[in-house]
Amino acid sequence: MTDSNAAAKAFQLQAGFCENLGSPFTAHVLTVLAADIEARGVVANLVAGFEEEPVAAALALRVAGALHRKALDEPNGPLGQLYATAGGAGPDDAALQAILIKDISENRPHYDTYLESPPQTNEVGRSGVMIGGYLSIAEQTGLPLHVFEVGASAGLNLGCDRFYYRFGDKTWGKADSPVSLAPDWHGGPPPVHADLQILERGGCDIAPVDVGEHENQRRLESYIWPDQPERLARLRGAVSIAKELGTQVIHESADVFVERALQGSAPLAVRTIAHTIMWQYMPEAMRGRIESTIRRAGDEATDANPIAWLRLEPIDVKDPPSLRLNLWPGGETQELAIAHPHGASVKWL
Ligand SMILES: C[S@@+](CC[C@H](N)C(=O)[O-])C[C@H]1O[C@@H](n2cnc3c(N)ncnc32)[C@H](O)[C@@H]1O
Repeated sequence: MTDSNAAAKAFQLQAGFCENLGSPFTAHVLTVLAADIEARGVVANLVAGFEEEPVAAALALRVAGALHRKALDEPNGPLGQLYATAGGAGPDDAALQAILIKDISENRPHYDTYLESPPQTNEVGRSGVMIGGYLSIAEQTGLPLHVFEVGASAGLNLGCDRFYYRFGDKTWGKADSPVSLAPDWHGGPPPVHADLQILERGGCDIAPVDVGEHENQRRLESYIWPDQPERLARLRGAVSIAKELGTQVIHESADVFVERALQGSAPLAVRTIAHTIMWQYMPEAMRGRIESTIRRAGDEATDANPIAWLRLEPIDVKDPPSLRLNLWPGGETQELAIAHPHGASVKWL
């Protein structure tokens, strides 16, 4: 059972994160919900039966996702109307609270069901950082890539070579792509002249999202914050590309997947293990096993059969994510960039 005080604190904490990550609307919604929990209202009742620890289980994001899902499914309903204008001036707190609380009271089964699953996301904006790493691998090796992404979620970032990018005054990719990324860029451009070719791609996840199913796509959409419509647009664009490419994300743990991906050899291609914002979710022993597998394969690498390890991860959970690359033979760590967690801004080093 969730204690109301702990739940209210979890909602306030998440509201602060949303404010800092550029979603004042979600911050506002969560603050209103926290007030209702403190007043022992409908939301307190909704979360009372929740068994897991509210912060660790991202309870506030589950409720925020359930509300957004309702708005997406019923664009002409009261929530749909409210969320469609999320980027503009919202109603005052009392009006917002009335709409949210009424919807939760009247549609309790929807909210109860939604709260059962943890939020699942796939942030396409992270390709705006990763692509610089893939270009660096292509530039340094002169070879095409086989990309193996672990913790790939729906695998949307595996289609990164089909997106269009602007890095300051330089561009790369297909100008007519349905996904266009223009992070706030600091520092020089990545090597846009490199001939990047991804010959093979595949991913794994312990909770893969098959976006071939409309329900799964909608669920991914619901966890995007409503006042960030550009993220929603690129998610939809990336889904269309993933379907076109037939991107496969298998249900497998990263350690098993990496072991298999690095067995044998792939002549004249760079086998690249890639990941974004997933390392912290694995137990330490598993992280150690994966790193040993990669380094062992790295020791066997040759110029004609190199190995790369490219990741966008915070070095410490409190730090902003950094883009790091190891490329074997050699294998020293290259610090390429520091980025916003969703890829909204990039400092290329
Ligand atoms: C925050 S999400 C990031 C998803 C995606 N990489 C992105 O950047 O949008 C973390 C992902 O790691 C996955 N994950 C956690 N532990 C894993 C493991 N042991 N093996 C594979 N995937 C894992 C989760 O299921 C989830 O999809």
